[in-house]
Amino acid sequence: MNKTFPLLPPDIELPPVLNLCAATRHRMMEEAVVSLYRWYVARSQENRNWNPDTSLDWQNFSESHSDEVHVAIEGFFAVEQYVPDYTSKLLSKVRESHGRSHFQLRWGSEGQKHMELWRNAILVGKRRKADWVREYGEQLRNEEWNLPWDDPVHMLFYTVFQERATQVNYLNLGLIAKGNGATGEQDRDPVLAEACRLIAADEAAHYHFFLECARLNLYFFPRRSLEAMADVLRHFAMPAGNIIPNFANFAETVMKIGVYGPRHFSRDVAKVALEQLGAKALRAVEEGIKKSRNIPDEFGLFRSGAIFESLNYQGVEQKVKQLYGRLRAYNSEVGRHLVEPLTEPPFSPEPA
Ligand SMILES: [Fe+2]
Repeated sequence: MNKTFPLLPPDIELPPVLNLCAATRHRMMEEAVVSLYRWYVARSQENRNWNPDTSLDWQNFSESHSDEVHVAIEGFFAVEQYVPDYTSKLLSKVRESHGRSHFQLRWGSEGQKHMELWRNAILVGKRRKADWVREYGEQLRNEEWNLPWDDPVHMLFYTVFQERATQVNYLNLGLIAKGNGATGEQDRDPVLAEACRLIAADEAAHYHFFLECARLNLYFFPRRSLEAMADVLRHFAMPAGNIIPNFANFAETVMKIGVYGPRHFSRDVAKVALEQLGAKALRAVEEGIKKSRNIPDEFGLFRSGAIFESLNYQGVEQKVKQLYGRLRAYNSEVGRHLVEPLTEPPFSPEPA
């Protein structure tokens, strides 16, 4: 029993990494994020180095899309219009992190291609004149997107859900472009399908980068990370919905044609991401946080296992261990291990 606080439960045995001081954990996490971002850039250059002007067969882009698909394309164009804001605002919050700040630049350069792709699609689809597109772009850029959260950890979890949601949007529009959607044959268009495939692959890569970063945060700083994750999920909304004119029409239209709506968010975004993060549903996470808050130790830190009731910490650790294996392999491949070796955290021993 804890002698100083007899009402507290006996101390749980903490995973070895959590016995390290916060500064050491922070340094280890930063090192891993740098390796992850270097790996990411190499993969991005090798596999996803497409161009919005030259990689698509624009001459054969359909001019007879349904009104709904047209509304969806214009909505995506509008959301992607704020890539400079998304990049600069987030960058200002993570500027002290080598890995996260430099990744954000790369992320911005990929988002920039998305905006130009949708701009091309609007123009080539011939539903709008060049003047309209230019003026609409100006109107959008008159507004400024601001961060939904000031804290970099909150923003990290926000980007996990937002990237997954964006990927789901583009995958579902891709199904429509294959003639398999609610609008039927009218929207069959191999060029649009290819556009969606290219962008959805970028979104998947973004999601996985942020997912790995979120896992690292959960592994090194479980409580703070779970709290941020619960806050973000409780208030989640897709970016720029409050500054895009007529956003409600876009949201209703994409829901109507099965591209994205609240059902997609709970089933294909929140549930999937939470599972991949080793977390239970939002309510269970909130309950775990509340319980662990009730029993702080003499330093005001949690000493209870309640926080772990809603998080499969072992599962997170396993995934982080696998990530370190991949990062080690990449660093060896390019020779970084000789000049900047990655410090391994003290992983729990494998069960006998
Ligand atoms: Fe993205």
